[in-house]
Amino acid sequence: MSKISVTVDGMKNEDDVEPRMLLVHYLRDVLGKTGTVVGCDTSNCGACTVHLDGKAIKSCTMLAVQADGHEVLTIEGLADGGELHPMQRAFHEKHALQCGYCTPGMIMAAIDLLNENPNPDEQEIREGIEGNLCRCTGYQNIVEAIKHAAGNSSSVGASS
Ligand code: FES
Ligand code: FES
Repeated sequence: MSKISVTVDGMKNEDDVEPRMLLVHYLRDVLGKTGTVVGCDTSNCGACTVHLDGKAIKSCTMLAVQADGHEVLTIEGLADGGELHPMQRAFHEKHALQCGYCTPGMIMAAIDLLNENPNPDEQEIREGIEGNLCRCTGYQNIVEAIKHAAGNSSSVGASS
């Protein structure tokens, strides 16, 4: 076992983990952060996307021990008190989900996208979320939601 110290959604956690445990399993099984989901076992779908030190990463591609000393933000840490994050609100307002399975990872990826490029055009949005798969929506409403969030708020990108 390895001792790790990771700040997740603003709370510092110290745990002993198996060296081979994936970050996504640490989040879900040790910390109970089940809002972050697993959609594949091939690093393709992006459902497990979280932020590590403010940058989107696929948490199934990283070991928990690699997060030692770092800050992780999950979908569960986005809302500020009772207030949804502007990107969460935009997904809601633009009906950017159906089954919702891709949504946590898609929102985390979308926030990272706007952090990098606060005013992306449609093509840049589509490229920015190409690592996140959605089997339901056809992506159009997701693109609309990200555009809406970009136009709505100067603080969309706040994270970590
Ligand atoms: Fe991580 Fe699919 S579960 S990319
Ligand atoms: Fe079902 Fe995206 S809403 S996978």
